[in-house]
Formats: sequence, structure tokens, C-alpha cells
Amino acid sequence: MEDGRKELVLLEFKIESGKPPLPGVSENGTINEISTQAKSDLMKRRFKTPKADKYTAWIDTNGKELEEQTRRDAQMRRSEVDGDGLEAPDGSGEKAALEDNRARFTEPPLQPSEKRRIYFGPETPVLAPLTTQGNLPFRRLCVGLGAQVTYSEMAMGLPLIQGQKSEWALMRAHESEATPPSFNSSDCVVKVYDNAKDIKFGAQIAANKPWQALKTTEVLSQLCPHLRVIDLNCGCPIDLVFRTGAGSALLDSQGKLEKIVRGMNAVSGEIPVTVKIRMGTKDNKPNALKLVDRLVYGGEEALRSGEGPCGAAAITLHGRSRQQRYTKNADWNYISDCAALIKEYNEKGNDLADTVREADGRSQANGKVYFLGNGDCYSHVDYQTHIEEAKVDSVMIARGALIKPWIFEEIQQGQYVDKSASERLRLVEQYVRYGLETWGSDEMGVGTTRRFLLEWLSFAYRYVPVGILEHLPPKLQDRPPAWRGRNDLETLLGSDNYKDWIKIRYIVQACACWVSTTNCAVVKCFLDQPTRTSTFSQSTSRTVMRLKRRAKRRRCICYILDITTMVRQCG
Ligand SMILES: Cc1cc2nc3c(=O)[nH]c(=O)nc-3n(C[C@H](O)[C@H](O)[C@H](O)COP(=O)(O)O)c2cc1C
Repeated sequence: MEDGRKELVLLEFKIESGKPPLPGVSENGTINEISTQAKSDLMKRRFKTPKADKYTAWIDTNGKELEEQTRRDAQMRRSEVDGDGLEAPDGSGEKAALEDNRARFTEPPLQPSEKRRIYFGPETPVLAPLTTQGNLPFRRLCVGLGAQVTYSEMAMGLPLIQGQKSEWALMRAHESEATPPSFNSSDCVVKVYDNAKDIKFGAQIAANKPWQALKTTEVLSQLCPHLRVIDLNCGCPIDLVFRTGAGSALLDSQGKLEKIVRGMNAVSGEIPVTVKIRMGTKDNKPNALKLVDRLVYGGEEALRSGEGPCGAAAITLHGRSRQQRYTKNADWNYISDCAALIKEYNEKGNDLADTVREADGRSQANGKVYFLGNGDCYSHVDYQTHIEEAKVDSVMIARGALIKPWIFEEIQQGQYVDKSASERLRLVEQYVRYGLETWGSDEMGVGTTRRFLLEWLSFAYRYVPVGILEHLPPKLQDRPPAWRGRNDLETLLGSDNYKDWIKIRYIVQACACWVSTTNCAVVKCFLDQPTRTSTFSQSTSRTVMRLKRRAKRRRCICYILDITTMVRQCG
């Protein structure tokens, strides 16, 4: 300024929707891309994980000692019951043993850092982690339709810490997933929750050993800046995963699971740790209630050592056993029992403050544990019923979203949305566009988009339009008799024949995709022909004419329309 004082100048940044751009967003709008250097460091074991190493070493020594002590104590108690009557009637012997244990217990080398607060409520329907299906384009589509929380596909810990490219690709998310979930402050009991700092996207990992889970968590917390939570998969039923001791196998190793969650919480920095479980591994032996108790209050060893609760910020329970896989209905009564246990814990929060089980303000991400139910949610009616009757904080939706991604729209609006066939086709087209943006519009990207589109269509065909249903609400387990749509396209979209899915793909994808570069647009034609590329600036009209002719030969109207739009957009 003239008088010599400095003037505040607004630095220039691209403003879209009134917000500064997110740091670390790549050109195609993805986040959590990690550098080649980081991957190479991981591959060559140059990437340091000091916290995980320290904590694992502590688990190895202290854990063994505690287990041994717990075993000895149990043996002692058994011999007392057998009648040698050494126990003092006032229980002072037990208390002394506890004090003794605590004195011998060595503190963990790390305490959890202050965690970012998160929130789950009726206004945050959650899209479940979905291997293969829950890819970035699909999640982006669901976010556009109202999903408030999303998860990555399950990534295995070991390949992540070995820097495997394909596994790291699962951590990529779209920038729309880095926006805050919706939030109604009147329902929130979490202290100092700042919605503006919250995001939608969380990572899910699977690991079978504490060192793997801890290393993976530390690496993720360092390399992926945009993670809402890190979720540990304890529900995967697949043999390949189960046999290694990961996924649902952890349900039968609850001591190990508790150690893993505690350790993850200690090394995850500010990222809260959550857990997704099933009811148990066997149909007739559900043990999730015991596990939930352990995860919120801490197990026997923790009680002995005075460690307190585990620090899991949220638990999601899928109301089925591993043995059950996806057969029969999810058991919402059981889910409701677990919800009641957690509610009791959350309400007891203050009373627990006087006991050794008091939650550490830092390790407990919210001062409370959130509880989500999962299984067979297929309409806003199911969603509301579960929130009201099972008293869960929110509901996680998996197949319901694959079959009907606009279930999130229905939940928002509190009513059925009868999407017409052309509206549904538009969603498919949107998916293709997102796919090409994510995976590229070269031959590889086109191939990947095609493959994942077919994967999705293999679920989407199961949608029966609400407008032709005989009774409501529709159920996920229903297998309706053959039906005819209100027009040919609707019938085609409901076909269970894979050849029809390919037809749908042609209708939408046949089009051409265009990628604008600085001055020109590159047109790629990908019917079932090899990719052909021509540059607009050189021979726009000839290319378009040729493409139009080909489309006409194939009686593909969409194709022509799309090309025309494309030409208009490219100027
Ligand atoms: C295709 C598919 C892939 C899945 N992948 C995962 C996964 O990677 N991680 C996970 O925790 N659960 C996974 N699940 C289980 C779901 O998240 C969910 O727990 C289960 O489908 C029950 O919910 P629903 O009745 O709403 O489908 C998958 C389910 C399906 C159908």
C-alpha cells in the first residue's frame, strides 16, 4: 500500500462450488494415489514403520506373559473350585492377584494419538465394502445418489505393505468421497465433532497377524491422507482368506483380534479404527455378542492389565454366520441384542470413569462406540425399521445398493423411487463415463470398464420395478416369477441372460468416448471392433460420418445421439 503497510492478497486458486480444491487430487479427480517412489520403497522394504515394529515387539513379549498369567490364574481358580478352599471369602485374593498383574504389566510403548471424530446416524446410510463391485466408479455413482459413507474394496494387508500396485489401486477414491457426510447436529452426542473435517471414504483391510495389520495401518496412515477410518475385515467367508486366519477366522481368535484392534488404534495416527464382523463362524454358535462385549469393554487380559477398552470407533455386524454365507435372512434380532449391549456401554460411559475400564479419551475416537447393522436392507422401509426397532446408529447396505443404487435416494426422500428404464440406462451410462475417467479410455481402460460394468449388471438385472410389483416392500431374498417390463428396455434391463447384459453394454457403451485435450478431442470407437482413434482437428466430419454409418448399420440410435452431443461439446 502507499503508506508502506502490507496488503492482504488472496492467493489464486481454482474455485469450484465455493471450496478450495482438495490437496492431492489427481487430474481425473481421484485421491489417495500413492507415488511410484513410495511403492518402490515398500517393495524394497525401505519404508519404515517404527510404530508398528515397536508395538508388535511389545505384543510379542507382554502378550505372552499376560496369556501365561491368565492361564495360571484360571488354573488356580479351578483348583479353588475343586475344593481346596484357599480363596478368602471377601474376594481379596482375587483383588490382590489383579493388583499383582497390573504391577507386572508393562505399559504399551505407544498410546493412541487423538482421533478425528466421526459420526454415524440415521442420515448417513452406508455403502458396504464390496470386493470387485464396490469399485471407484460404482461408489461415485452411489455418492451421487445419496450414499453418505463409502468403503474401499477389501485390501489384503500383506500385498499393501509389499507395495503391490493392484492392491494400492483399491485405496483410490473419487474426490466426491472426500466431502463430509450429511449431519444433523441435533442427533449428535459426540463431543467436538466437526462435520467439515469429516469425509465419506474409509479403507477396509484384512490381515491374519498383528504385525501385518499394524504395519498396514501405519503405512496407510502415512500414505493416504484421505481416509475417514481404517476398517478391519472380520467377516470375509472366502476359504482362501479364512484358511490364512484372516477375515471371519478372526471371530474364533478373539484374543488375537483384540490385540490387533488395540495395536491398529495405537499406530493409526488420527484415523479411527473400526471393525466389521459376522455373527460367528458356525450357524448354531453365534459368538458376536461376546466379541462385541470384548471389543467395547476389553477382554480379560485387558482387565488384568488395566488397559481398558479397545478403542474401536465403530462396529458393524452382518447378521449372518460364515457358514450361512448369504443364505436365509439376516438375523436382526441378534443385531438388536448387540446394539443394546453397546447402548448400555455408551450410557454407562460416565460410571465407567471410576473403574479400570474407563476409556482413554484419546483411544476412544468419539467417547462412544457406534454400532451399525448389516443384512438384507433393500428399501427405505427396511432402513427406517432397523434404525427404529434394532436401535442401530446406521445401516450398511451391500446387495441392495448393487441391485438398486438409488436406494440412497429413497432413504433421503423417505419414499420409493420408481425409476423408468431410460433413467436406469442413464445410470449405466454414467457408470461407463466414470469408469473411463477412472481407468482411462485407452484399450486397457475400455476393457476394464466393460468388465466391471458386466459385473455390476449381473446384480442390477435383479431389480424388479416397484411400479409393477404386486406387494411392497420388496425383499432382497425374493425370487420373483418371470415378468415383463412396461417397455422393451425395461424387460431387457431385467433379463438374467448375460447376452442381454452385453447388449445393454453396447447400447450405452457403443457410443464413443471422448477425451478433450488442449485443442482437440480424441475419439475412440469401441464397439466390438479394435479401437480406432482419430483426431478431431484433422478429420472431424469424416470420422463422425464413418462412426455414424457404422452405428446405423448396427441400428444403434444411442450411438448416433452420443456422437452428435460429442461433436457439439467439442465445438
Ligand atoms: C459381491 C460382494 C462383495 C463383498 N465384498 C466384501 C468386502 O470386500 N468386505 C466386506 O467386509 N464385506 C464384503 N461383502 C459383504 C457385504 O459387505 C455385506 O456384509 C453382505 O453382503 C450383507 O449385506 P447385504 O445383505 O446388504 O448384501 C461383499 C458382498 C458381496 C455381495
